[in-house]
Amino acid sequence: MHNPRLMPTAPHSGTLAAEVSWQDVLTSLEDAVLVVDRVRALSFVNQAAETLTGRSARSLLARDARDLFRANGWLLDMVDNSLGPDESTSRAENDFVKPRRGTVPVSALVSPLRDRRGQVAGSVLLLRDRTLRQAMEEDLRRSDRLALLGKVAAALAHEIKNPLGGIKGAAQLIRAEVTHDVSLVENTDIMIREVDRVNQLLDQLLDLARPAGLHLEPLNVHELLEHVLRLEAPAADAAGVRIQRSFDPSLPPVTGDRGRLIQVFLNLVKNALQAMGPGDCLTVASHMDTDFLPRTGQTAGTKFVRVDVCDEGTGIDEADLPHIFSPFFTRKRRGTGLGLAVCDTTVKEHGGRLSVESRVGEGSVFKVSLPAQQD
Ligand SMILES: Nc1ncnc2c1ncn2[C@@H]1O[C@H](COP(=O)(O)OP(=O)(O)OP(=O)(O)O)[C@@H](O)[C@H]1O
Ligand SMILES: [Mg+2]
Repeated sequence: MHNPRLMPTAPHSGTLAAEVSWQDVLTSLEDAVLVVDRVRALSFVNQAAETLTGRSARSLLARDARDLFRANGWLLDMVDNSLGPDESTSRAENDFVKPRRGTVPVSALVSPLRDRRGQVAGSVLLLRDRTLRQAMEEDLRRSDRLALLGKVAAALAHEIKNPLGGIKGAAQLIRAEVTHDVSLVENTDIMIREVDRVNQLLDQLLDLARPAGLHLEPLNVHELLEHVLRLEAPAADAAGVRIQRSFDPSLPPVTGDRGRLIQVFLNLVKNALQAMGPGDCLTVASHMDTDFLPRTGQTAGTKFVRVDVCDEGTGIDEADLPHIFSPFFTRKRRGTGLGLAVCDTTVKEHGGRLSVESRVGEGSVFKVSLPAQQD
C-alpha cells in the first residue's frame, strides 16, 4: 500500500512528520481499521484488526470480505450501503463473529472511502471492541444499585437494630428461666439464633452502604489468611474438606483494612466450603499478581499481591456468573446474596480487583488482587 508521510502542520511538528506515516498512525490505533475496495477485497488492515479477527494481515489481505465475514451479515450490509447508490455511512453495535471462533461485542462505523477525485473507491470499517466498556457499564449499574441500597440499608438498620436488641434481650431472659422445659429452650434458642442472623444481615448491608472509611495499615496477608482458615477449620472438618496452603513467603505486605479484608476472605472461604463435599480440597494460594495491569492514574505503578481461593466444588453456571457480585443474588436456601457484593465493594475500595473463573462440575477460583505496600 502507498505509504505517504504525514504533512507537517505546525512549525515544530516537522520531526514527527518525518518519522511517522499515516500507516503508523492507523497501526497504533486501538480500534480495528479495515479497508475494502469496490469488489470487497481487503486492501488494508491494522494490528488491532488482526487481533480482533484472530488472523494475520497476510491471511486477510486481498481476500474477499464476503468470504471472510460470512457470519457477520450485518457488517457486510453496512459495507454494501457505503458502496451502494446512497454511499451512506452507518453505525451499529453488534456481536462480531470471529472467523475461527468466538464472538466479541463491537461498535462499528462503516464509511465510503473516497479517492482524490471524490469517487467512492471502497469502504473503511472501524470496529471497536466493547468488552471492557460493557464490563465498566455493568460496574456502573451495580454501583448505582448499591448507592440506592445504601440509603435504604442505613434507614432500615437504624429502625430495626434497636427493637432487635430488645427482642434478643427478652429471649435470653426467658431462656434463663426455662431450663427445665426442653421445647421452650429449643424455641428460645431459635429466636436468639434468628435475631443474630438478621443482625448479621443488617451489618452486611451496612458494610455495603458505608462510605469508604478504611483504616489502612501494612498487613501480612498470610497472617490474615491463617486467621480466616483457623476460624473456618471446624466447618471444613464437618464438610470433610481438606485445606491446602500454597503461600509465597517472599510477598511484600499489602495495604489494607484488617477487619474488612478478613471479612472478604471469610466470605470467599465460606462460599468455597459450602460448594464442596467430602474428599474435596480447598486451596488458598498467594503470589505477586502479574495479570493485573491497572489503567487508572491512581494505581499506576503499584504492584499487586494476589490471593486465589480455589475450590473443587459445584462450580457456577455460566448464566449466573454475571450476577454473583450483585446484592441479593443467591442460589442458597438461606443465603442473603450479600457475601460477594460485600467482597467486591471492599476490594474495590482498596483499589484492588476481585475476579472469578468457574466451571460447572469442576470448581471455582476467586482471585483477589490487593495493592502491595510501596517500598
Ligand atoms: N465458590 C463458589 N462455588 C459455587 N458457587 C458459588 C461460589 N461462590 C459463590 N457462588 C454462587 O454465588 C452466589 C452468591 O454468593 P454470595 O456469597 O454473594 O451469597 P450467598 O453465599 O448465596 O449468601 P451468603 O453469603 O449470605 O451466605 C451463591 O449463592 C452461589 O450460587
Ligand atoms: Mg456467601
